[in-house]
Amino acid sequence: PHTAVLDQDGELALAGIGATDLAGRFDTPAYILDEETFHARARLFRDAFSEAFAAVGSTVDVYYAGKSFLSVAVARWARADGLRVDTCTGGELAVALRAGVPGAEIGLHGNNKSDSEIARAIDARVGRVVVDSHAEIERIAQAARDAGRTSDDRVPVMVRVTTGIHAGGHEFISTAHEDQKFGISLTGGQALDALQSVLAHPELELLGAHTHIGSQIQDAQAFEVNARKMLGLREELRAQTGFLMPELDLGGGYGIAYLPGEVPIDVRALATDLAQVVASVCTELSTTVPRISIEPGRAIVGSTTVTLYTVGVVKPVTLEDGSVRTYVAVDGGMSDNIRPALYDARYTARLANRTGSAETVRARVVGKHCESGDIVIPDLRLPADIAPGDLLAVPATGAYGRSMASNYNHVLRPPVVVVDRGEARVIVRRETEDDLLALDLG
Ligand code: LLP
Repeated sequence: PHTAVLDQDGELALAGIGATDLAGRFDTPAYILDEETFHARARLFRDAFSEAFAAVGSTVDVYYAGKSFLSVAVARWARADGLRVDTCTGGELAVALRAGVPGAEIGLHGNNKSDSEIARAIDARVGRVVVDSHAEIERIAQAARDAGRTSDDRVPVMVRVTTGIHAGGHEFISTAHEDQKFGISLTGGQALDALQSVLAHPELELLGAHTHIGSQIQDAQAFEVNARKMLGLREELRAQTGFLMPELDLGGGYGIAYLPGEVPIDVRALATDLAQVVASVCTELSTTVPRISIEPGRAIVGSTTVTLYTVGVVKPVTLEDGSVRTYVAVDGGMSDNIRPALYDARYTARLANRTGSAETVRARVVGKHCESGDIVIPDLRLPADIAPGDLLAVPATGAYGRSMASNYNHVLRPPVVVVDRGEARVIVRRETEDDLLALDLG
């Protein structure tokens, strides 16, 4: 879905604006975010899931996972596209509220919510607080009572359940992933206990159960197996208590393409498959699920953004076997994209200001940080005549790029520049040295 196209000189244009023009106006490095792509992806999730689940009698809420990238503008777009906003800290909650998203359209996650985060969420009357542990249930109930909430005015909660499925990349394993910090396990009746405990608190309203099985998942089957487990849990709770949870949240984690040739998950096919799974289980149990929710982040914002860098030093390095690798250093690196260093994540890059020579060299794109692991792309072919001053574009950096950016080495975090039909504007400005020094009290 990239709207990037090459003009006749081989220059990259993003939403109709040339890379050289963007670099001249906004400097580099910069995240260039295509607004149209965001809306298209957001609406695709909304429409695909709503339509597929309408056929089985469920309405769908899509919560945009703010951790992937959140700003006031983006929260407003999500709302305009009919999405809600998922937050997992007081900071993300503050951005969503600043954007004017009504509390009822915000969810709050977190495995270790502070008292003030819980109180603030209750005060903002968020649509749901997602319980992550047994211990939290009583804390949320206490905070609800402190805020004067009663059985007539309950705080809506979901319980995050660990179904034992942990997926990501291209594989999923259906057992043995219990050893992690999130949620409450299905095993030993723990999730069931938590749901019953919520039901026993008069100031809490149990909306349903929530599950999130991983990120960058390409295998639709993992979601299907997970959905079956959640429907099973819902049935168990009904058998024990008579209470039929009105909602199930199937989480986020839908994979995108980072490299040429990679196939992103097909959102429409996934929605249809999942709806069929829910329908067939529901038919067996002669029930329906009134509400389904999902929480995609990466699959909405990931492909919206290209990072533009300027090439600095180009250094041929002779390797032990006598071959040469050309190190191409750019003006950012692990501070604006930690994913290669943290997860071995792979990206591609292309020369953005011109075509470059047909002859290519074996290259490695590195950053400017004082660390040899500061690698943007370990191995790729680049035009042999790549030179200082050239622009490099790295696509698919919209998710977990700016949101995980750091000030390592006191590097200033890049701006987020929105491009839309030939117009460009900044939605998050570049940091300044004054911003950094403002925190340093000497
Ligand atoms: N909902 C919950 C409860 C989550 O924990 C997450 C992601 C999401 C939704 C959104 O997942 P998405 O659709 O974006 O995959 N920093 C890592 C990804 C961490 C994801 C954590 N949870 C990365 O850069 O790959």
